[in-house]
Amino acid sequence: MRFIHFEEIDSTNLEARRLAEEGQTGPVWISADAQTVGKGRRGREWVSKTGNLYCTGLYLHPEDLASAARLSFVAAIALAETLEQYIDPDLISIKWPNDVLVDGKKIAGILLESGTSGDKLWIAIGMGVNLMHHPENTERPATHLLEHIKIEQMTGPEPIFTGNRPVLATLAARFDHWRDIYLTSGFADIKKAWAERAMGLGETVTARLSNREIVGLAMGLDDDGALRMKLENGEIEKIHAGDVFFSPTAL
Ligand code: BTN
Repeated sequence: MRFIHFEEIDSTNLEARRLAEEGQTGPVWISADAQTVGKGRRGREWVSKTGNLYCTGLYLHPEDLASAARLSFVAAIALAETLEQYIDPDLISIKWPNDVLVDGKKIAGILLESGTSGDKLWIAIGMGVNLMHHPENTERPATHLLEHIKIEQMTGPEPIFTGNRPVLATLAARFDHWRDIYLTSGFADIKKAWAERAMGLGETVTARLSNREIVGLAMGLDDDGALRMKLENGEIEKIHAGDVFFSPTAL
C-alpha cells in the first residue's frame, strides 16, 4: 500500500482526482494534517484544522458505478472497526447511509467521488475523522475521539492514541480487508457487517427526502444500498438519498 502525506493541502479528494486524471490508478492513500478547502457531502464545507485525520483512498474499481457507490458502506465498516481499537465498541454506530457516530454524535464522514481514466473507473474514498476536536454549531451533534479515551489510556508508557498516521494505517488496512470481501463475495457480507453496527434498525425513523418526509420502520439495507423502510400501510419504500432522523413517534 502506498501512502502520501501532506502537512496542508486544498483537499485530499481533489489531490486524488488530480492523480487519477494524470493516469495514476492507485491504490494509494493521500492524507493531510490540514485542508484549506475540505469538502463535505451536499456541497458543505468540512472544517479541516490540524489535529484530525483527513484522508482519501484512490482505487481502480473493476465493476460498474452502482457497485462503486456501495464502497461507502465498506468505508463505514472500516471506520467503525478502526475506532473500536481505541474506544468501547458499544459506543460506535453507523447511521444510514454512512455517518459514523460515537455515543450518538457524528465523529466521521465519508465523501465518495469517482471518474474515468481511459476506460477505467476510479474511485476516491474521502474520510474525515475527528480525533482531537470537532466543529461547533453543526446541524447535528458532533464529537471527537479523544473525548472518549480515558486519561489512563493516554498517560501510560504506550499511550493508546498517538495522532493521525496510526489511525490511517488501521483504516486503510480495514478498508482493504472489507473491499476484498466485497469484490470476491459480493454485497451480502457487507450488508451483514453494516447491520451489526447500524443505528435504529427496527425503529421508527423519519426520512427527509428532497420533496417530502416519510415515517416508517427502518428495516435494513437493500441490495443496492438503499434503506428499506416499512410504511404504516405495510408497503416497503426504498430510500436512495435523504436525511434520516430518529423520531419518538410510534407507528
Ligand atoms: C460528510 O459530509 O459527512 C463527508 C465529509 C468528508 C470529509 C473528508 S476529509 C478528507 C476528504 N477530503 C475532503 O475534502 N473531504 C473528505
